[in-house]
Amino acid sequence: MHRILFTLAVLVALSDLLLPAQTPSKGPEPAKPTTPAMQIPSNLNQLMRGILYPASNVVFASQNENPADVKMPPGQDPSLATDPLVSTFGGWVAVENAALALSDSANLLLIPGRKCSNGSPVPMDNPDWAKFVLQLRDAGLKAYRAAQSKNQDQMIEASDTLTEACANCHRKWREKRTPADRCQ
Ligand code: HEC
Repeated sequence: MHRILFTLAVLVALSDLLLPAQTPSKGPEPAKPTTPAMQIPSNLNQLMRGILYPASNVVFASQNENPADVKMPPGQDPSLATDPLVSTFGGWVAVENAALALSDSANLLLIPGRKCSNGSPVPMDNPDWAKFVLQLRDAGLKAYRAAQSKNQDQMIEASDTLTEACANCHRKWREKRTPADRCQ
């Protein structure tokens, strides 16, 4: 009797091991498209210095000098230019693209999670933040249309709008007594 019970117990234990733990797979699953998680490598100050500042200088420069006349010094290679105006994609095209980069940078200013250089979060909860970011987006588009028209008077007007868009936000969050007070 003991032996029969023992054998039964062993069989029950074995059957647990033999049963597959999960439904057997029916071959390889088709690959699902994955969206990589958004990352925020730069703080707000680095983003300003890396994208907004150089791009706006290209736009502003077109007020004083016709971009079509800006030429690379002889003997230098346009494909290696650090000044977009004289690069392979230079002249008015460079102004168009700088204006678009500014407009696109509005999206970067709306990603949650970015910090200011002093460690404070970018003040995205404040409704004025969105207002100023949208002013920047519109100012970039206005500069783009002005560059497409290749008209320097329009560039002067678009540059004023752009300066105002930068300044509105800076007055509220950048121009502080000390850097520690920025973004508050
Ligand atoms: C929505 C708000 C906002 C807009 C729009 C904006 N900025 Fe800024 N900017 C800031 C803030 C806030 C700082 C300070 C960031 C920090 O310290 O992390 C800053 C910093 C900077 C800096 C770095 C200054 C320094 O002391 O190192 C530059 C350059 C700059 N901005 C240029 C621009 C230009 C040019 C434009 C317009 C084309 C612009 N910004 C538009 C908010 C803005």
